[in-house]
Amino acid sequence: MNGNTAEQLTKGGRRRVRLDSGTTRDIDAISLETGRDIKNKSPHISDETIESLGLKPPIVQEPAPDTAPAHTGQQAGLVKGPVGIDIGTTSVVVAQNNCKSVRTVRQMNAFFAMPVSKMVKKTLKKNSIDFFDKNKKLYILGSPAEEFATMHGASIRRPVESGLINPQEEDAVDVIKAILDNVVRPAEQQGEKICFSVPADPVDGSVSTVFHESVIKMHLRSKGYTPLSIHEGLSVVFSELADNNYTGIGISIGGGMCNVCLSYLAVPVLSFSIQKGGDYIDCMVSQAVGEPLAKVREYKETELDLSVEPRNTIETGLHIYYTDLFTSLLKGLQQVVGSSDKVPRMSKGIPLVLSGGSVAAEGCRELFEKACAENPLPIPVSEIRIAEKPLFATAKGLLKMAMEEEAE
Ligand SMILES: Nc1ncnc2c1ncn2[C@@H]1O[C@H](COP(=O)(O)OP(=O)(O)O)[C@@H](O)[C@H]1O
Ligand SMILES: [Mg+2]
Repeated sequence: MNGNTAEQLTKGGRRRVRLDSGTTRDIDAISLETGRDIKNKSPHISDETIESLGLKPPIVQEPAPDTAPAHTGQQAGLVKGPVGIDIGTTSVVVAQNNCKSVRTVRQMNAFFAMPVSKMVKKTLKKNSIDFFDKNKKLYILGSPAEEFATMHGASIRRPVESGLINPQEEDAVDVIKAILDNVVRPAEQQGEKICFSVPADPVDGSVSTVFHESVIKMHLRSKGYTPLSIHEGLSVVFSELADNNYTGIGISIGGGMCNVCLSYLAVPVLSFSIQKGGDYIDCMVSQAVGEPLAKVREYKETELDLSVEPRNTIETGLHIYYTDLFTSLLKGLQQVVGSSDKVPRMSKGIPLVLSGGSVAAEGCRELFEKACAENPLPIPVSEIRIAEKPLFATAKGLLKMAMEEEAE
């Protein structure tokens, strides 16, 4: 990979990406608004020449016709320096600084296990499909797992459930380590900073994040990094609220859960999570309207516009369950703010930012505002906005944090 290629990536070169439903869509490269600030603080980071660091495979499927070859599979390379890594239920997103842009790699957080066969192994290698073998089984990682699962008439398996290492999956720890190995190269210099996301405690009960956090920390340490865990909601604040002195509410609505953080001058005042997300919407709508889950998900990701009246039964179901999710989130916020004595008195409203894959649907802001009219926000909010790149905001915030740490 050379400098020219990297520049073309940041000049609005559109890339075809795979949606979670398996279909594809064209998107732009991600840009880093705060590149200037970071450069002032740590010039060595953004002046690095670009090198291949073995990060793979990005969601990039193929280049736009007018751009240089895309970085797929083994050839995917990122720049040196601190890393932000968002470990979600649906996907793992890695962000690294690449001169004036953030380079991101998104890998589906899924696997499929099948009996070992020399022939299959050889073919997987030839096709740059990530896998490992253990105890006479082949573990296929990332989005190709979906195709293998379909061929076997089975479903993909998930190493992370509701934001934490899946206790129902005995192979979860091995798989998450292998996925991390595929997307994060060993540290260039011992002790390089890496920030990763963790969920906040659920509003309706407490689960321990200690095991999850410790497994990931130990693995990242073994790769030469100094790891730091950050709540997902706070990462959204770091990513989206720089112009508001990191004061506001950051919300991430992913596949498995929602994470919320109220931050005042970059200090997390309160954080919580709820165990509902895009998967809950898909599942409930599929049951309610009698359509296959995959069809509902694809419709949601490609056709849905929540700002207009529903035009068919699937849309009706999606409106109902998006509203249900937003209502649970707002009730959670009312409950947590109402029972906290830590919320500072604010003279004016603060911004609220929605991020995560589930708010990539058109019209989410409008529907969320409607839900707020029914369930008033417990603190004055000046504006409700959607993150610029909802699927990448958490990783971008984590990268910013890692860069700040590195610069100290
Ligand atoms: N364009 C889209 N419109 C609506 N939902 C989407 C879109 N793209 C992805 N999603 C949904 O976002 C969720 C995954 O979001 P993500 O932030 O990657 O989750 P996680 O934090 O669980 O890893 C899935 O439920 C997926 O269906
Ligand atoms: Mg997430």
